[in-house]
Amino acid sequence: MGKNILVGLSGGPSVAINSSLAGVIDAGLRCGEFTEVYGAKNGISGVLSGDIIPLSQYSDPESLRLLMQTPAMALGSCRHKLSAEDFQQVAKQLAELSVSVFFYIGGNDSMDTVVKLSRYFAETNNPCRVIGIPKTIDNDLPDTDHTPGFGSAARYLYHTMSEIIRDSAIYPVKSVVIVEVMGRDSGWLTLAAGLPRFLGGAAPHIIAIPEAHFDENEFIKQVEAHLVENKSVICAVSEGIRDEQGDYIGMSTKSGAVDSFGHTYLSGVGKYLEELVAFKIGCKVRSIELNVMQRCASHLAAQTDLQEARLAGEEAVRVALEGKTGVMITFKRECNSPYSISVSDTPAENVAGKAKDVMAEWFNLEDAAVQREIVTYLLPLIAGEPELLRDETGLPRYLLM
Ligand code: F6P
Repeated sequence: MGKNILVGLSGGPSVAINSSLAGVIDAGLRCGEFTEVYGAKNGISGVLSGDIIPLSQYSDPESLRLLMQTPAMALGSCRHKLSAEDFQQVAKQLAELSVSVFFYIGGNDSMDTVVKLSRYFAETNNPCRVIGIPKTIDNDLPDTDHTPGFGSAARYLYHTMSEIIRDSAIYPVKSVVIVEVMGRDSGWLTLAAGLPRFLGGAAPHIIAIPEAHFDENEFIKQVEAHLVENKSVICAVSEGIRDEQGDYIGMSTKSGAVDSFGHTYLSGVGKYLEELVAFKIGCKVRSIELNVMQRCASHLAAQTDLQEARLAGEEAVRVALEGKTGVMITFKRECNSPYSISVSDTPAENVAGKAKDVMAEWFNLEDAAVQREIVTYLLPLIAGEPELLRDETGLPRYLLM
C-alpha cells in the first residue's frame, strides 16, 4: 500500500477551505502512517495533468496558521466532471506517487468525483481510498448541519448588510437597494443577509430565495407597499431565484455559459431587478452585487468556521485510517448553547449532485417564531474573530503555494 496521501480542492472557494487543507497536512503528517502529503494544483485537473506538489514544506505551525488565514484556495480549483477516460489516468498518477488516500475538498459536484473514483478503485481492486471533505459557502450539502465556509460568508453578509442599511438611511428621499447574494440552488446565505432584521432592525424588508418561486409583479407590489411605510427599502435576493417555470430571473443579464456540470454562471439578477424597479416605480434605486467578496473576505472570517474547517480536514485523515472510502465528513449540532458539534461521515453518494433546501418552515420570514429559529441556527456559526498574523505595516499575511 502507498505511504503517501494526496489532497485536492475543487468548486467555488471560501475563506475556510485552506483551513481544511491545513488539517489534512497536519494530521496526515502527524499520524505517523504517511511520509508525504501531496497537493494537486487545480483539483482533479492537476491530478490528471500531473501538476502535483509536496506539502510537507508547509507543515510548520506558522505556515499552517498563515494557510488558515489565506482566503480562496491555496492550490487553486477546477470544475471538472470526471469522464470514463479519466479514471485510468488518475489511478496511474496516484500509483506513481504511492498514494493510498485521496482527499477531495469541495461541494456537491466534488462529491460526484469522490463517488466515481471510489467506485472505480473498488471495481479495479485498487486499495486506494477516497475521502470527501465538505466545503461550500452555499451551505446546501445534505446530511450535515452546515458546511465549512458558510459561517464566514454569513458573517460577511451580516456585517455588510448592517452597514448597507445604515448607509441607505441617510437621505430623506424614497429609495430602493437590492443586494444580490450568492447561492445557486438554495437560500441559506440570503437568510444570513436577513440577520440584521432579526437582530433588532426592520431591514432587509424583502428576502427572495431560490426555494420560493419569484414573481416579478408580486415583487414590485411588495416594494411599493414597503415604500409607503419606509424611506428606504432594502431587498436581499439570491442569485439563483427562479420563476414558476424554473427559469432564472433576469436570464437576459447572463452570458449563457455553463460549467462542466452544466451549471449556468449566475450573476446580474440584482441589476435586472434594479432596472425593473426603475421602470415600474421610477424612484431612486441601486443594486449591489456582493459577488466574490462574500466568499473571499478573510478579514471577516468567523473563527468557529476556520476551526471547524480544520477539524473536518483532521477528521478526514482519521476516517481514512479507519479504512473507509467513498464517504464525506459531516457535522451534527449537539447543542446551541453552549454551541457544540460532533463529527461523523456519510456516503458521498448521499451528497453528490444534490442540494439541501432551506427548511420549508423558514420560508415565511414574516413569522416571528421562524425568525428566532434562524437566529439560533446562524449565530454560533458566525461567531469569533481570528487573530491574524500581520506584516510590519499591520496588513494580514498570506501563504502562497
Ligand atoms: O460553489 C458555490 C458558489 O459560490 C455559488 O454560490 C456560485 O453560484 C458559484 O460558486 C460561482 O462559482 P464560479 O466562481 O465558478 O462562477
